Amino acid sequence: MNVLVLGSGGREHAISWKLSQSTILNKLYIAPGNAGTSQVGENVALNPNNFDEVKAFVLDKKVSMLVVGPEDPLVNGIHDYFLADNQLKHIPVIGPQKEAAQLEGSKEYAKEFMFRHKIPTAKYQSFSADTLKEGLAFLEEMTPPYVLKADGLAAGKGVLILNDLSEAKAELTAMLKDAKFGAASAKVVIEEFLDGIELSVFVLTDGESYKILPTAKDYKRIGEGDTGLNTGGMGAVSPVPFVDDKFMAKVENQIIKPTVDGLKVDNIPYKGFIFFGLIKVKGNPFVIEYNVRMGDPETEVVIPRIKSDLLDLFDGVALNSLSEKDLEIDPRAATTVMLVSGGYPEAYEKGKEISGLQNVENTIVFHAGTKSENGKVLSNGGRVMALTSYGRDMKDALAKSYASADKVCFDNIYFRKDIGFDLK
Ligand code: AMP
Ligand code: GLY
Repeated sequence: MNVLVLGSGGREHAISWKLSQSTILNKLYIAPGNAGTSQVGENVALNPNNFDEVKAFVLDKKVSMLVVGPEDPLVNGIHDYFLADNQLKHIPVIGPQKEAAQLEGSKEYAKEFMFRHKIPTAKYQSFSADTLKEGLAFLEEMTPPYVLKADGLAAGKGVLILNDLSEAKAELTAMLKDAKFGAASAKVVIEEFLDGIELSVFVLTDGESYKILPTAKDYKRIGEGDTGLNTGGMGAVSPVPFVDDKFMAKVENQIIKPTVDGLKVDNIPYKGFIFFGLIKVKGNPFVIEYNVRMGDPETEVVIPRIKSDLLDLFDGVALNSLSEKDLEIDPRAATTVMLVSGGYPEAYEKGKEISGLQNVENTIVFHAGTKSENGKVLSNGGRVMALTSYGRDMKDALAKSYASADKVCFDNIYFRKDIGFDLK
C-alpha cells in the first residue's frame, strides 16, 4: 500500500516510524513532515488543509490510504471531502468525518453527547453573548474554582480555571462579548471543577469494534512540578502506574463502550483514534475532553508499545474487520522527554543547529519542530524533539531518556527534568 500521513509533529513521526516497519507498506509519504519523518518516508510539501492539493497528490502517487495526524483537517472535513469525490471515495481515511470531529471541535457538542449517553463528565451549562447575564448569575451559584471553556478550537488555550469570582465574571464577559478567543468563544461552557489525577486513554475503532491502546500520562505545563504556562506537552509515560484492572474495567464499561455504542446509536460513523482525556476522582473515571486524534507527546510512548503491524490494524479499520485483528502490546514501560526551544510556549527562536544526535543510544528520537537544511538538522518550532526510551519500569526508561537528553545540544535548549515526578 502507498500511504500518506498528514502532519508534521512528533506524533506524525512516531506514526510514520511505526508504519515504515509494516510488511504491507509500499511507499510512505508525509505532508509536510519534518527532518525526522524524512528518515522513514518521503516528505511532500502539501498543506493538509488544502484538500484539492491533497487530492491531486493522492491521485498522482496512487495513494491507497490517508492517515490524518492533527485535528484541524478532520474538523474541516477532509474525510467528508474524500467520501464526496468519485475519484477518492474508495480510498480509506483514518480519522473521523466532520460530524464526529465535533467531539473535539465543540465542547458543547461533546458535553451533549456525553449527557445523552450517560457518560460520566463534569456538570455544565453553556452560554452565548445573548445569555451572558444568565452565565454571570450561574457563576454566582457555583463554588470555585470556576472552569470556563471556549466552545471551539482555541489551540489549547481556551480553558480557564479561576479561583476568583470577579475574575471569572470578567473572563466570561471577555470571551462572550469581546471574542477573547475569536469565534471559538462565541459559546462558553461553564463546568464543575473535578479534583483528581489526569490520564489519557486511546482507542482505535472501525465504528463497530475497538482496540484499547496503552494508557499514557502527559505533562502539559512548562515548569517543573506542573507549574507555569500550558504547552502542547513536555513529556509522557506509558503505562500509567496508578491504572489497575479494576479502574480500566470502569473506563471501558462506563466510557469507552458507551462512546462507541453512542456513536452507532446516533448514526455517526467513526473510523480512527478516539482520545479520552480522563480524570480519576475517588477511584472513578470522568471525561474531561474528547479528541479525535492521537495525543502529542502521548503518541511517542503509546505507538512504540504496539508490537502489532499498525498498517494492518488501519486496514482493519478501513475494511470493518478490526475485531479480527490481534493487538499485541510490549510489556515494557516507555517514556518520552520533549526538548523545547527556550522561551516556548511564548516567543522563541527557530533555526538553531541541533548537534549530538549521533551520540544518542538506547533512545528513539522523534522529531517535532525540525527541518533539514544543507545536511544539518535545525530547530523549526517550540517543541523540537521527543526522546523516547523503553525500560523495565518508568524510572528505568526515564533514566535512558534523560541520559540521551544530555547528549543533544542546541542554543537555548530546555526540557523538564521531572517527568513522572508525581507517579511511583
Ligand atoms: P481541556 O482542553 O478540556 O482538556 O482542558 C484543559 C485542561 O484543563 C485539562 O487538561 C485539565 O487539566 C483542566 N480541566 C478541564 N476541565 C476541568 C474540570 N472540569 N475540572 C478540573 N480541571 C479541568
Ligand atoms: N498532549 C495532549 C494533546 O495532544 O492534546
